[in-house]
Amino acid sequence: MSLFLRAFPLIALRSKPFPLCRTIFKLNPKLLPNRTISYASASFSTETQISDPKPSIILKDTLQWVNRTGLCGELSVDDVGKRVRLCGWVALHRVHGGLTFLNLRDHTGIVQVTTLPNEFPKAHSTVNELRLEYVIAVEGIVRSRPSESINKKMRTGLIEVAVEHVQVLNAVTSKLPFLVTTADDAKDTVKEEIRLRYRCLDLRRQQMNSNIMLRHRVVKLIRRYLEDIHGFVEIETPILSRSTPEGARDYLVPSRVQPGTFYALPQSPQLFKQMLMVSGFDKYYQIARCFRDEDLRADRQPEFTQLDMELAFTPLEVMLRLNEDLIRQVFLEIKGIQLPNPFPRLTYAEAMSRYGSDRPDLRFDLELREVSDVFSETTFKVFADTLASGGIIKVLCVPSGAKHYSNTALKKGDIYSEAIKSGAKGLPFLKVLDDGEVEGISALVSSLDPTNKKRLLKQCSAGSGDLILFAVGDHASVNKTLDRFRVFIAHELGLVDHSRHSILWVTDFPMFEWNSAEQRLEALHHPFTAPNPEDMEDLSSARALAYDMVYNGVEIGGGSLRIFKREVQEKVLEIVGISPEQAEAKFGYLLEALDMGAPPHGGIAFGLDRLVMLLAGANSIRDVIAFPKTTTAQCALTRTPSEVDPQQLKDLSYQTQ
Ligand code: AMO
Repeated sequence: MSLFLRAFPLIALRSKPFPLCRTIFKLNPKLLPNRTISYASASFSTETQISDPKPSIILKDTLQWVNRTGLCGELSVDDVGKRVRLCGWVALHRVHGGLTFLNLRDHTGIVQVTTLPNEFPKAHSTVNELRLEYVIAVEGIVRSRPSESINKKMRTGLIEVAVEHVQVLNAVTSKLPFLVTTADDAKDTVKEEIRLRYRCLDLRRQQMNSNIMLRHRVVKLIRRYLEDIHGFVEIETPILSRSTPEGARDYLVPSRVQPGTFYALPQSPQLFKQMLMVSGFDKYYQIARCFRDEDLRADRQPEFTQLDMELAFTPLEVMLRLNEDLIRQVFLEIKGIQLPNPFPRLTYAEAMSRYGSDRPDLRFDLELREVSDVFSETTFKVFADTLASGGIIKVLCVPSGAKHYSNTALKKGDIYSEAIKSGAKGLPFLKVLDDGEVEGISALVSSLDPTNKKRLLKQCSAGSGDLILFAVGDHASVNKTLDRFRVFIAHELGLVDHSRHSILWVTDFPMFEWNSAEQRLEALHHPFTAPNPEDMEDLSSARALAYDMVYNGVEIGGGSLRIFKREVQEKVLEIVGISPEQAEAKFGYLLEALDMGAPPHGGIAFGLDRLVMLLAGANSIRDVIAFPKTTTAQCALTRTPSEVDPQQLKDLSYQTQ
């Protein structure tokens, strides 16, 4: 604190009491300040008297609160002639033709402030002393800019404030790690680790300000839509909680009062929202913080926010329509984008077969084709072995791809690396020549007789100049490789139509998938998802009443109708390898609730950060979260996680060395 106070003499000497101007109060009596308050607070002075020999001089007028009469970004030609008092940060500072100009920034935007050296020499000289990011208050008259200095790129570019009084509210005494005003242009030159380390400055940048404001508008709109139009109620659920299986590792919090036991931070409020349905809150929602200890990517954070919802007595069709309407509304009001009504739907099986992904980006075509039948008699060893071991052969045909990718690129270039990164062992390919012949991997070319070549080209709808890329193996690995090719090639060849908006539902997921590492079935969504009633005969191969919403290849939300009867829930837990004893220990409270009059219910959760990232056109969810974690799950600002006091560990009954 004393260091902080020692920085203030500078300001204290520079800042004289700010003259109040009667005219302002005539304009708007509501803006009358109580008085410019000067806090030489008792708690500060006690400390300073000890460490500083001249406390009374230093502290006088040090902390001042000025009442502003307007906001920088909101002034317009309608305000010309008005006297205003504005507060903000010095965003730009330049001297030109004997005048000094500065841009003053607050949360609403920027306005140009100019000096009148002859009429108000003191204000002029104070302005000349200002440095970037000083916090100031200015008072003056709004006037039209001369035509030659009109700035059409600036919202307030038609006007400026001719300043009469300037007050420095706070100076910048440390070296700024980057310039706030120009950092948007120089975004790529300021490293993200520096931006995250100095997040308070980073958030001052126009781009970050608008991202955070956009996030606020999205949340506000969601709340209004759910609460006011549909009667949803927001209910908070515990953060110190018990593990819920959403597929990631838990963050654990040791209990002090119950040594050796732990809380888990919620991966989602899944079971609590189901409890609320049993309790009769038919329409619940929550802007819920969730925690997942998983490997991070551009669209994943260890701590993220869901728009979480649950509804009772709501069939699947109504559930999907309500959520479509919500998202349509968000896109329309926030971005002016009209999404289709209804949203297209693809079943999981169709999505995987045609695009190799359960979150396909449909802004480009590039469909996959299975061609195993063409090669049933093949002599090409890799293909023959694959088919003999129960695998499949699938292709991606790239129109006019032959000339884009040289044979060398296909054998060791980026596209080949994509194949290897996806887990494939190689990249068989064929190029279609003008005369209908094919060239490529020679053993593959020579293994194709004219009939099968024709069948292959027909099945791939391939013509002259096209490139056919093959993937072989089991369904999952083949789809993984071709999905990766599809996205990589579409971006590389500029096939993505950025004017299109690809939104769709993916439905009918399988209830379970095989976990080969653990040699057991596991729930594809989570084990509380209801099976399709048509598939009750054999639950292990049943389709689930689950749905994901996908926008431009990103899963923005996912949910399901839930199991609401105990015997079905027990059966599903058994299929995923949870014994009745484990089920009782982990989810006894859910099973109990299902026995106490649980209504049919279901829900969904949207990744709020992801949704806002897409609406903001940001590349990473870190750019739409005020204080995100780095890719190594750290908070660069507070330097978390951090070591703790040994005493704290002792309190938690941990041994310290
Ligand atoms: P799910 O696990 O699909 O469903 O999560 C819902 C949505 O949350 C977003 N999401 C994430 N966003 C940022 N960082 C992460 N680490 C992260 N993980 C997920 C995604 C995803 O679509 N309980 C179910 C919902 C339900 O069934 O109602 C659940 O959590 O956009």
